[in-house]
Amino acid sequence: MSDKPTLLTGIQASGDLHIGNYFGALKPFVDGYENYKSFLMVADYHTLTSLRDGDAVRKNTIEVVKDYIAAGVDPEKAVIFKQSDVSAHTELAWVFDCLVSVPFLMQGHAYKDKVAKGLEPNAGLFTYPMLMAADILLYDTDVVPVGEDQRQHIEYAREAAAKFNNAYGQLFKEPKEMILKGLGVVPGTDGAKMSKSYKNTIPLFGTRDELGKAVMSIVTDSSGERPENVYAIHKLVRSEAELDALYEEKKGKYKELKEALIDDLDAFLAPMREKRASITDEEVARVLARGAEAARAVADAKMQAVRKAVGVS
Ligand code: TRP
Repeated sequence: MSDKPTLLTGIQASGDLHIGNYFGALKPFVDGYENYKSFLMVADYHTLTSLRDGDAVRKNTIEVVKDYIAAGVDPEKAVIFKQSDVSAHTELAWVFDCLVSVPFLMQGHAYKDKVAKGLEPNAGLFTYPMLMAADILLYDTDVVPVGEDQRQHIEYAREAAAKFNNAYGQLFKEPKEMILKGLGVVPGTDGAKMSKSYKNTIPLFGTRDELGKAVMSIVTDSSGERPENVYAIHKLVRSEAELDALYEEKKGKYKELKEALIDDLDAFLAPMREKRASITDEEVARVLARGAEAARAVADAKMQAVRKAVGVS
């Protein structure tokens, strides 16, 4: 074991990734994870709060591991595992459920949003933050890289740690969130934030043809000479100094500028796309099996201490 601080993050598969996911979440993770003792966990049990299709959950798990490895996470340098392989997660979540109050959980964003939409939340969604707290706290995690939308969940994890330590004695470390800002908001093909729900995405692992289609659909206005929506995406993959010269030279030639963007995006993305295609399901299974073993070694020891403290061993 190294003396680097511990980092853990959980991911839920959300289908085909786009370059907004890459620059906003994957890339900042890939750039930083080697400075920590890193755990990358697929939150497959969390997924059951919203997905009732066993084959889909299984497939998504494999796909998301491929995504992260292709994006640059070396399975030799991070523990990649799935939540369901380490039973201490659900076990510890129960202990936390018994420490926090119902009104406290009722303040949870995910739960509140569901209720606000007039939908019926399942009990899993209600206690979701305590499973997430268990994910984090089992590993004496120092930092948790997440998007802004997960900030509250890290507060909940700190609260679970404090409640436990208060009741049973110091056992858990209070983690800190590390809000991933990436390159800020990545604009979509219509200039608004790139998001699956806006249908304005550029695929991360799409073919050159798919890339081309997405780029050609970028909305340009005829007012200026520089198509800002094209430029805003272009500068993710090429320096602004180079771009300024190119955009000056091709002033007003939107089609040529889009073609240049396709070339540059393709050059940037092709290695990741090829890497992803080379990863077999069997390889993912091996990575997850190794990861499960490494994660269990840490989590089970902590869980044993918990069991002793609460009086069930
Ligand atoms: N709730 C997180 C999300 O939806 C996923 C997650 C589950 C997670 N467990 C975690 C993130 C532990 C960080 C740490 O994005």
